[in-house]
Amino acid sequence: MAQNLDALRLALQHSPDNAPLLILFAEGCLDEGLIEDAEQSFQQVLKNDPAHAEARLGLARVALLQGKTSQAAVRAEQVLSDTPECAAAFLLLARIHITEGELSKAKAMYDKGIALNRSLADPGIEKDLHGVRPDSDDASGRKRAAMTSSGSFIESANDSADAEDDGHPRGGTAFDLGLADFEKPKLNFSGVGGMESLKEEIRMKIIYPLQHAELFKAYDKKIGGGVLLYGPPGVGKTLISKATAGEIQANFIALGLHQILDMWIGNSEKNMHEVFELARQNAPSILFFDEVDALAADRRDLRQSAGRNLINAFLSEMDGAESDNDGVLILGATNAPWHIDPAFRRPGRFDRTLFVPPPDEGGRAAIIEVMAQKKPIGELDPRALAKKTEGFSGADLKAVFDLATEEVLNGAMKTGKVIPLTTKDLIKAASRHKPTTKAWFESAKNYAMYSNQSGFYDDVLKHLGLMKR
Ligand SMILES: Nc1ncnc2c1ncn2[C@@H]1O[C@H](COP(=O)(O)OP(=O)(O)OP(=O)(O)O)[C@@H](O)[C@H]1O
Ligand SMILES: [Mg+2]
Repeated sequence: MAQNLDALRLALQHSPDNAPLLILFAEGCLDEGLIEDAEQSFQQVLKNDPAHAEARLGLARVALLQGKTSQAAVRAEQVLSDTPECAAAFLLLARIHITEGELSKAKAMYDKGIALNRSLADPGIEKDLHGVRPDSDDASGRKRAAMTSSGSFIESANDSADAEDDGHPRGGTAFDLGLADFEKPKLNFSGVGGMESLKEEIRMKIIYPLQHAELFKAYDKKIGGGVLLYGPPGVGKTLISKATAGEIQANFIALGLHQILDMWIGNSEKNMHEVFELARQNAPSILFFDEVDALAADRRDLRQSAGRNLINAFLSEMDGAESDNDGVLILGATNAPWHIDPAFRRPGRFDRTLFVPPPDEGGRAAIIEVMAQKKPIGELDPRALAKKTEGFSGADLKAVFDLATEEVLNGAMKTGKVIPLTTKDLIKAASRHKPTTKAWFESAKNYAMYSNQSGFYDDVLKHLGLMKR
């Protein structure tokens, strides 16, 4: 990290008012305990843009670290009064309340923040707040939460109902304990629009090896290992992971954010072992860790203390130190690859990475066709809509369909007749929706330019046209 800070410092000399860079630098300083440097950088951002929420929140964090809790609270609340949807501000207030020993207030703030943005879930805070409200232990609640954490699973409710038909998993302790979701997905690549080159890469790296196990045996080469998918939110990382299992009729064992956090809280290396055993006994299988950054976080506060045991347990299970992982493919997905501890990317672990970009125009047209299959459509020109949705992720396109459907439904309710959706309705809805991938690329670009160790972010740079393909 210190090296990265030097690189950022150098970059700032060339571009001293670059807000994303300043924020990144300030965050790095906070990690390193350089509180005054962080404070200066946040203030520099505010000089040019006094309303900058991230910088204002940064100053609130600085105040908290300096022990000025009431100043920190005031600052965080000011941010919230201007941007009531700012999840990070709620989380900071939760932390402030924890410092003050006000745990139930902290819990209320934390829950609000997570409801706004679940990807901000913080094992450190959850640990502190564990047990503050007893209903968080309810097992069925946990299962529900786990499903919500991986959006696509809810929609494919048919799939999960069918999972029962496929028989109970062998040695299903982890499944019975609610540690993981187990199924044989019906969804395959045909249900995932576009992503052609990614599908091809997945075939080469994942599917063919599993299908030609005997060839690999002949060469005494192991099948399995880890692949990490990363990219902006909503581009279909979770969806394609599940479809990969469906494509080869492999068992799919999925752990979402909440299941990972549960393990953190319970500090349960044993549960981690159970989950891997479940995957081994049901090979060929795909063991999927969604939002794996929650587990692999390269954050100081998590790495000390108890949490470290869980990380070590995960790594040694992944290395197959005690048991054979043959036929178990470990997939991880994240939209915060920069939070992943490099130890996770060593050979034999997540040593292959795939960048999942937002769909290009052709990809968007394909996704639009897949989505249109579920709606009453009058006439549809997928290309025309694709042209108007530059930078949209699959999730953004879904939002466009939802918006347009709402509009048309309003009309339909008045007349009592089904009015088909048209391209025009969809284009109109698209103009009301802002694509969500831009902000991600702003952060990613800085990491890609200033901490691109062993070319990890080359694909991001290529996508941005900053490196030759
Ligand atoms: N290629 C696609 N084809 C069809 N639908 C898609 C595609 N990509 C995304 N979607 C839609 O967008 C939703 C969100 O996708 P998904 O949850 O897989 O994104 P993600 O990359 O895992 O996002 P996050 O980083 O937020 O977890 C899907 O449930 C699906 O409805
Ligand atoms: Mg996902």
